[in-house]
Amino acid sequence: MKVIAAYSHKGGTGKSTALMLLASAIEARGQSALLVDCDPQRNFNMYRLQSEEIGCWSERLEVRYLDFEATGIADLESGLMAAEDSGRFDYALLNLAGVDHPFNREALRYAELTLLPFKPAATELSELGPALEVIRNLEAEREVGAARVLFTMMRPKLTVAASAYRDAALDGFPVMETRLRDTAIFADIVMRGLLGRAIASTEAQASGLEKMQVKRLREALDDCQMLLAEVDAIIAAEGRQA
Ligand SMILES: Nc1ncnc2c1ncn2[C@@H]1O[C@H](COP(=O)(O)OP(=O)(O)OP(=O)(O)O)[C@@H](O)[C@H]1O
Ligand SMILES: [Mg+2]
Repeated sequence: MKVIAAYSHKGGTGKSTALMLLASAIEARGQSALLVDCDPQRNFNMYRLQSEEIGCWSERLEVRYLDFEATGIADLESGLMAAEDSGRFDYALLNLAGVDHPFNREALRYAELTLLPFKPAATELSELGPALEVIRNLEAEREVGAARVLFTMMRPKLTVAASAYRDAALDGFPVMETRLRDTAIFADIVMRGLLGRAIASTEAQASGLEKMQVKRLREALDDCQMLLAEVDAIIAAEGRQA
């Protein structure tokens, strides 16, 4: 079971979206994932409820909630171990709350890959350095698997000073990019659930404009699958085996 975490010190960086895009690709591939909400916002659960309403959820995805402030890290560990032992899941996705908290730092120790979604906008830059610092410290202790900053959103036109600030914060830290930048697709993921399921349910009665929608969803799913392939390759090359 491959454990992938999304981590940032701030809300709204794209953590839940990035993991849900991966979940969509995992599901479409016929594999299964345990989706662990370690964030009181319970974004995974929100996706599940909305998808279920329109028959777009899949039994191959299971959502669990952990109240990170109430639960110790031991609960996460035992949950992950039980999930691994059950043999039911190919992946576990950890959706961490967007705060710097000891629980999150501990949780990263279980991840074979940590994604740090980041909107490369000038206003966000101050958040990146401290989050990377945490990862670098864990790396120094050999307590974390692979890690990547995941640039989300359009590449903005950063000022020269902001670019220099970003590069200084990154200081050679490896980055990935999502090709998915179509906000309408994110609305679709939220409103209509898993992309593969949404395609299947739309395709049946698609006519005219809906055919265009199906095409857009298909392209988005292709992008998700490319992201998942990239994630798998990183884990195979650098990740620890859980
Ligand atoms: N790659 C992307 N391109 C464009 N918009 C994106 C991208 N990823 C996420 N978003 C948008 O950014 C907003 C925040 O995303 P998301 O909810 O995934 O962030 P989060 O880090 O989980 O936030 P929180 O900490 O509040 O749970 C959403 O409106 C989402 O649609
Ligand atoms: Mg979230």
